[in-house]
Amino acid sequence: MLGFLTAGESHGQALVAILEGCPADLPLTEKEIALDLARRQGGHGRGGRMKIESDHATLLSGVRHGKTIGSPIALLIPNKSTTFFEKAFTQLRPGHADMAGSLKYGLKDARNILERASARETAARVAVGAVARKLLSELGIKISSRIVSIGGAAKQADWQELIDETGLQGDTLGGVFEVEAVNVPAGLGSHVHWDRRLDGNLARGVMAIPAIKGVELGLGFIQAELLGSQVHDEIMYKKGKGFSHKTNHAGGLEGGMTNGEPVIIRAAMKPISTLAKPLNSVDLASKKPVKAFVERSDVCAVEAAAVVGEAVVALEIAQAVLEKFGGDTLKELSGRFTSYKKSLAVL
Ligand SMILES: Cc1cc2nc3c(=O)[nH]c(=O)nc-3n(C[C@H](O)[C@H](O)[C@H](O)COP(=O)(O)O)c2cc1C
Repeated sequence: MLGFLTAGESHGQALVAILEGCPADLPLTEKEIALDLARRQGGHGRGGRMKIESDHATLLSGVRHGKTIGSPIALLIPNKSTTFFEKAFTQLRPGHADMAGSLKYGLKDARNILERASARETAARVAVGAVARKLLSELGIKISSRIVSIGGAAKQADWQELIDETGLQGDTLGGVFEVEAVNVPAGLGSHVHWDRRLDGNLARGVMAIPAIKGVELGLGFIQAELLGSQVHDEIMYKKGKGFSHKTNHAGGLEGGMTNGEPVIIRAAMKPISTLAKPLNSVDLASKKPVKAFVERSDVCAVEAAAVVGEAVVALEIAQAVLEKFGGDTLKELSGRFTSYKKSLAVL
């Protein structure tokens, strides 16, 4: 079973992640993890923080001579920007965890909440997700993402212009991204119990990315307006290839299980909450009206969020693969995986 924990504050010393349950003998380098970390830091509309940080995850444990050894994999991502950590603030920011978190923990300074609720934590998720991605790639499963739209604009040149204009006005944007996993065999996840349904686990993983407010699989919400005959994917069979579908409106999942088609999951990200031209709010201490606190911030982070989306999808699919096939070593896992895939083709 694959599981992970993350720790660390946005402007604390470092982010830490521990991934447990990765089989032994998976080739893994810090360079591979760095590639995904760099992708998370990119994208049009990112703020000043990204110019300061250039993330690198050090593999502290679980890897020897470039291969995993089956023990927990600990990763350390130091923060370069730690200067804000000591600074208190009370001007609660709408759209952030500040108000609810300060009430929940009985705080007079919202800094504790900002520091952990910050999407900086997603760097740790991307680092462990890179390990899951590597494991899946050894089995032929590939995960990618694309931007569907930003602020309603569906063409890159248009959304880049929109981001620039919006930033100049002190405002922010959100958008929609799509994650796709290909070469996923039928039968990951299960219909037998709600918490084993892979659709639910994928939706939870993606929805748990900060600022994600909508998740859909395949055709998603539009299905509610269509006829059954327009939605459901007709089943076909070819000797030597096995079962497949004529279309993939279901996004690769039926009954909480993968059905052999690409897994397609889309997420809607709300506009960034911190506005350079701040919204009206209330001061936590004085209870008087104030302008919201402003800290270095992105105008738009949809491209970065898509990379986080890939990471969480990789982690959920890798977990489902390990649940079905198990194995202490990569050889054991891939042997079982390959023979299952062959058995599906010759059914
Ligand atoms: C990759 C990424 C980068 C983000 N960058 C910022 C940012 O620079 N400023 C900001 O206010 N919110 C940013 N957010 C969103 C906030 O973290 C998020 O809206 C906030 O923590 C409240 O959580 P909620 O929107 O899920 O309710 C980012 C989110 C992601 C996924």
